[in-house]
Amino acid sequence: MIWKSLSQSPPSLARLLAVMVAIALFKSGSVSAQTTNRYDSFRFGVCYYPEQWPESYWEEDARRMQECGVNTVRLGEFGWALMEPREGHYDFSLFDRAIETLGRHGIKTILGTPTAAPPKWLTHKYPEVLDASETGRPVNDQSRRQYCYNSPVYRRFSREIVEALARHYRDNTNIIGWQIDNEMNCENPECFSDSCRAAFRTWLREKYGTLDALNARWGTVFWSQSYSDWGQIDLPFPTPAWHNPALMLDYRRFISDSATDYLNDQVKILRRYRPGDFLTHNGVFKNINYYTFSRGLDLYAFDNYPTFEDSPRYPTGAKLTLVRGFDGHFMIMEQLTGPAGQTYLLRTPRSGSPGGVKLLGRGGAADETTPPGEMRLWAMQAVAHGADGLLHFRWRSALRGAEEYWYGVLDHDNVPRARFEDFKQEGQELQKIGPQVFDSKVISKIAVIKDFEDEWVFDYQFLTKEVNVGAVYDALFQAASEQRYNIDFVGPTADLSHYRLVFAPQLALMDNELAGRLQRFVEQGGTLVMSAHSAIKDRDNAFTAATIPIGLTNVFGVALDSFQTYQPPSGANNAVRFNDGSAVPVQVFAEVLHPTTARVVGRWERDYLKDSPAVTDQSFGKGKAVYYGSLFNLDAARCLIKRYAGEAGLKPLLADVPEQVEVTCRTKGGTDFYFLLNHSDSPATVNVGGRFVDVLTGETATANLPLAPFGYRVLKRERLTE
Ligand code: GAL
Repeated sequence: MIWKSLSQSPPSLARLLAVMVAIALFKSGSVSAQTTNRYDSFRFGVCYYPEQWPESYWEEDARRMQECGVNTVRLGEFGWALMEPREGHYDFSLFDRAIETLGRHGIKTILGTPTAAPPKWLTHKYPEVLDASETGRPVNDQSRRQYCYNSPVYRRFSREIVEALARHYRDNTNIIGWQIDNEMNCENPECFSDSCRAAFRTWLREKYGTLDALNARWGTVFWSQSYSDWGQIDLPFPTPAWHNPALMLDYRRFISDSATDYLNDQVKILRRYRPGDFLTHNGVFKNINYYTFSRGLDLYAFDNYPTFEDSPRYPTGAKLTLVRGFDGHFMIMEQLTGPAGQTYLLRTPRSGSPGGVKLLGRGGAADETTPPGEMRLWAMQAVAHGADGLLHFRWRSALRGAEEYWYGVLDHDNVPRARFEDFKQEGQELQKIGPQVFDSKVISKIAVIKDFEDEWVFDYQFLTKEVNVGAVYDALFQAASEQRYNIDFVGPTADLSHYRLVFAPQLALMDNELAGRLQRFVEQGGTLVMSAHSAIKDRDNAFTAATIPIGLTNVFGVALDSFQTYQPPSGANNAVRFNDGSAVPVQVFAEVLHPTTARVVGRWERDYLKDSPAVTDQSFGKGKAVYYGSLFNLDAARCLIKRYAGEAGLKPLLADVPEQVEVTCRTKGGTDFYFLLNHSDSPATVNVGGRFVDVLTGETATANLPLAPFGYRVLKRERLTE
């Protein structure tokens, strides 16, 4: 991939071409073509809020940032009230001065469009712009994210402010990219406003064409729900009994499409005025299909706050893997820095020297030998999984407002303490590591199919408290990571041809295209492992008259006979006993399988199901199809990866690595970059042999490589051919 330089002037041929493409896209009103406007070097920095501090702070802020190796900040994303203090009166002067000050210190800006926090004059004069809760009442406007994507008035105002901003900064060379809005669906993943109600009806009309078609596909004959007028259709407000699952799934698709459409309003404007800039959005939340949502953007950004998890190592790795799957690249727009919370307080990232000098204020230079803490370890974990840029949240802890407790690089009193030194060291290290690993790829031979629509199916029909699709991805990530494999999460339309082992967890919704793709993957030599409760429904979220797994009975050589659902804690009730003697506790479903051509490789161990077929596999074409008759839990993931990765000829990244150390590999050209991350507060040693060079020092790595508590190393070597 060619990464386009954004800092060059006068305009290059690439820039001119980008302008022409953008104009063509703008004219056609289309945003579907993904462009590859990206920056050309690793980006390191912070989220900065100059508007929250006296201007007298800015020069020193920029100088200190520069000292820490910062080359990029994000700013402006909550600045609408300053940018448009009165309706139609724009004033960007504060941001002009801040961007210019930073620019003088070599720091580029990612400008946030400010639409996540509308000004008071707007919400008071036009209350119809407000998001509504499921009571149908508008939400209060005393915070942020209180607007509705489908409000025509809000859409007009957001287009106007973005256009004013883009026009104002159209020639500014300090701006390199734009973050559109902020964390869409974070605090309000659903909306029940009048605008959404009207838009939902239009959306359904476009999708189904006629009410007859909608009635048939939703099955509205059930409970006398047939519609004779589009105006009878409503959003899924609270009702005495349950909703139609078809309506619930369409509602979520509608939310995702609404968010995407709203985002693309801004994409079109920014492409028109700033065709060479990269466009991004940050965060992953409910009810958005990110494969389609991110299509109009150049690069997706994740906000990485590991301490939302008790044990962050694996869930964080899984989230980073998910985001990388949107288009193969990503950056971190917000990375956890210190203590954090709003009304609550998360646990603080642990320091590498508890009780030691690093906890005290000091002004000296970072000590190269000081062991890192979790802050730097987690930042490096993001890079290890593919981040091509990383900004910490935030530069200085706010004195006032809803996030007074969310600590930045600097404390409230602006005194540089241990976090500042850590940040500086991270910046210095990334100045060496970043350019080398930039634009490299995480190459995986194992993939997990993640279909957001399946998640939405189980979100409503949750079946039992133990059915948790999110946890399944974490489990598969953890098992692969424990066994030292890279792993990818991919969408249901992804090209599977370069994978050897593919997991299909709870793929409830099946269609001919997906079934065909899975079949071809197996025919061409891949191993496909599918869990229980997959291929049970069509895309209308309805059961069909076909035998389960629908569309795939031949590929697996098996048909579903019956199933038992165990209530929580299900694992104590039964287990799959494999023919090699290993056992895995049941997870919710114990399906009884009827093999037509497959062989049975595991049977139920207990209960009335004892000895009935639980797991089958069969060779099909050049590959193998494995049907696992329960949901995947961590035990199942471990067992299945062990069993089938080896069989598929996959080799772990490294052998004999201590459990506390995570290993990933990024590849660029003929070079492999290995990341070794010690997630423990005790030291570790990894036997890497003699072939590696330490990217930080440029020296040959010792065969037995020591890792400090929370320490990490990035090593490189020539890529081995498989
Ligand atoms: C993110 C958000 C930021 C800030 C941060 C800390 O969710 O984008 O604006 O709120 O979390 O809470």
